[in-house]
Amino acid sequence: MKPLDGAVALVTGAGSGVGRAIAVALGGLGATVVLVGRDAARLHETADEVEASGGQAPSRPTDLTHDEAVRGLAEDLRRKYRQLDILVHSAGLFARGEIAVAPITDFDTQYRTNLRAPFLLTQHTLPLLEACRGQIVFINSSAGITAGPGISQYAATKHGLKALADSLRAEVNSKGIRVLSVYLGRTATPMQEYVHRLEGREYHPQQLIQPNDVASTVTSALLTPYTAEVTDLYIRPMRKIT
Ligand SMILES: NC(=O)c1ccc[n+]([C@@H]2O[C@H](COP(=O)([O-])OP(=O)(O)OC[C@H]3O[C@@H](n4cnc5c(N)ncnc54)[C@H](OP(=O)(O)O)[C@@H]3O)[C@@H](O)[C@H]2O)c1
Repeated sequence: MKPLDGAVALVTGAGSGVGRAIAVALGGLGATVVLVGRDAARLHETADEVEASGGQAPSRPTDLTHDEAVRGLAEDLRRKYRQLDILVHSAGLFARGEIAVAPITDFDTQYRTNLRAPFLLTQHTLPLLEACRGQIVFINSSAGITAGPGISQYAATKHGLKALADSLRAEVNSKGIRVLSVYLGRTATPMQEYVHRLEGREYHPQQLIQPNDVASTVTSALLTPYTAEVTDLYIRPMRKIT
């Protein structure tokens, strides 16, 4: 018997990086994990990893910036499973640019992906989460707490995500739902490799937080007995880059 046998989880951004690692960890604990992202081939790679550890992971390719697609995803979950125990928002985008020059379209895309999509998906899945005293995880960033130069747009979406999670927690705790924000520092994923490229730095992934370590910290918080709630996790690489 595994701790999440019979549970249904949905992980966005499950085709790579942090989302993939969390999906594989949840599958290994017995959950059926619905994998969401745009790239079907990458979702299938994640599904193969989950299945190799004995779990089940149906892929559901979805562009989370399309409202109808988000509604359809929630409706499919309702019809197929009638429950949602764990919702993990890991999908995200990053763009750099000082305010003087950053294209407003970059802001729009990050807003739609990093903030609006988690709002809408949460809204549509809340009845399913309520039905089983579910848990919601927001993968946030150290930029959701402190904003440095060149990342105003990304940081604004992540500050917004903090507000969304805090407000949601205050609304749904009384219904038995737990809400966790995870504020990550630099983590070895395709997004961080891209950030290094933009910054003109050499990429040494072994010096950064590892996605599997994020996954084990998150699953440990999710398995905390229901007399307690882990609300916020701050994870930094041991070796700090300034
Ligand atoms: N890596 C870091 O250093 C770091 C630090 C702090 C916070 N974070 C946060 O951690 C989360 C995970 O990022 P990561 O580092 O694991 O990067 P990643 O490997 O690039 O993963 C991001 C995922 O988001 C998905 N995605 C993007 N736009 C989407 C859309 N419109 N609809 C559906 N899925 C979409 C991408 O899949 P598709 O392209 O297939 O859609 C991708 O799998 C993000 O929220 C990020 O902001 C990362």
